[in-house]
Amino acid sequence: MRTILVANRKGGCGKTTVATTLATALSAQGHAVALADADRQKSSLRWLALRPKDAAKITGLNWTKDKNLGDSPKRIDTVIVDGPGAMTTAHAEALIREADEIVVPLQPSVFDTESTERFLDKIETLKKIRKGKATIHVIANRIRLKSRALAALEAHMAETGRPLMARISDRLAYSTLAGEGLSVFDKATAEFTAYRNQWHPLLLAVGE
Ligand SMILES: Nc1ncnc2c1ncn2[C@@H]1O[C@H](COP(=O)(O)OP(=O)(O)OP(=O)(O)O)[C@@H](O)[C@H]1O
Ligand SMILES: [Mg+2]
Repeated sequence: MRTILVANRKGGCGKTTVATTLATALSAQGHAVALADADRQKSSLRWLALRPKDAAKITGLNWTKDKNLGDSPKRIDTVIVDGPGAMTTAHAEALIREADEIVVPLQPSVFDTESTERFLDKIETLKKIRKGKATIHVIANRIRLKSRALAALEAHMAETGRPLMARISDRLAYSTLAGEGLSVFDKATAEFTAYRNQWHPLLLAVGE
């Protein structure tokens, strides 16, 4: 079983959107996927409750309590963890102990970048990361293609040795689909092809 943690101490950067989208993408590929909610707001579990019965199956897990971290049924091959905002280093460490891949969403603004870099500085000191036993993937979320903000973020992250793994556009569809317990990977229509394509570098990086 592999565990993909979506985390950033910055609130509202897109953790739940990324976790739910990854869960649908991997489930559509035939993986036995669980979505583990480690955030007390339980947004991922609420999203799952809205999910139509005939949509690709995703099993919900409640990891809001430390004692439940790592719990998963045997048949599950991939666990996606929706991490909490405002987490302590100890909590981040407990979650990272369970993770093989860590996806860090980041919005292209100076404030988000500074706060995310502090988070990355902290987690990069953890033994598991230092030893290369968990890989960090930074992705830009809510971007505008060809914007100056994205170009600046792209250059800055490359310079600091944390290049962007994927770039996800700011699109209303992410929130409207989420309101139905769905994602762009549940909609096989051409309308969402360009949306799905933006996730492919990340899907490749986490080993699909
Ligand atoms: N790429 C996107 N395009 C448009 N809206 C987005 C995108 N990503 C996220 N959002 C919207 O931004 C808001 C915050 O996203 P989300 O809930 O995924 O962040 P979060 O990091 O989980 O927040 P929290 O820290 O509260 O848990 C939501 O309303 C969501 O629909
Ligand atoms: Mg959330």
